[in-house]
Amino acid sequence: MKKIIIAIDGFSSCGKSTMAKDLAKTIGYIYVDTGAMYRAVTLYALEHSMFSGESIKEEELKADIEAGKVTISFELSEDGTRPNTLLNGKNVEKEIRQMTVSTRVSPIAALPFVREFLTRQQQKMGEKKGIVMDGRDVGTAIFPDAELKVYVTASAEIRAQRRYDELIQKGEKDVSYDDILKNVRERDHIDTHRAVAPLVKADDAIELDNSHMTIAEQKEWLMARYKERC
Ligand code: DC
Repeated sequence: MKKIIIAIDGFSSCGKSTMAKDLAKTIGYIYVDTGAMYRAVTLYALEHSMFSGESIKEEELKADIEAGKVTISFELSEDGTRPNTLLNGKNVEKEIRQMTVSTRVSPIAALPFVREFLTRQQQKMGEKKGIVMDGRDVGTAIFPDAELKVYVTASAEIRAQRRYDELIQKGEKDVSYDDILKNVRERDHIDTHRAVAPLVKADDAIELDNSHMTIAEQKEWLMARYKERC
């Protein structure tokens, strides 16, 4: 069976990764969460005190990236169910999902040199096809020729509720729905208005509004689209 590239783009917390991960596992494809890579760069910047107030010490971050001091990779979790994100060899999967990172990641993802750095790696990961990648610019900037492109949407309130439930389930105690909703709206704004590779629906992407769909329904829907392409 021919291998293809599957690009899943959309707003934050709209369930892209759940459906993308599941499809990849079922059909034996590699799964890449590009948002995790932007989050890992953000964590690096936080750990190295590169934020001062609202501004980012861009030159310092750029110099470290150019000097090869920021390496991002993935490894399968011990139970083999999910990929963990590694920053310079250390598993940071839990840290990159915390609000401290969520509130800083969009400005980092808007920096052209960060996008260039990560886009190169993402394109390399898909050279042999057989990949499901989720993010904001997969079908537009990373793989404009992807065979299957999906653009996922859901209301901001529903997405905030999903993120809230996820954090509570992970044992986070200090979370507020209102803060999450605010963060979701801010990120939507930055992600869709930035100069480089903003979140937009590719002309040839299929739109999926999953506001009122169950996870099982989304998975089924995606599998059907995949089968149409292969
Ligand atoms: O999918 P996520 O919420 O984990 O993504 C984190 C941030 O990274 C999000 O605010 C936008 C950015 N991002 C991006 O700019 N391009 C991508 N391909 C993936 C994520």
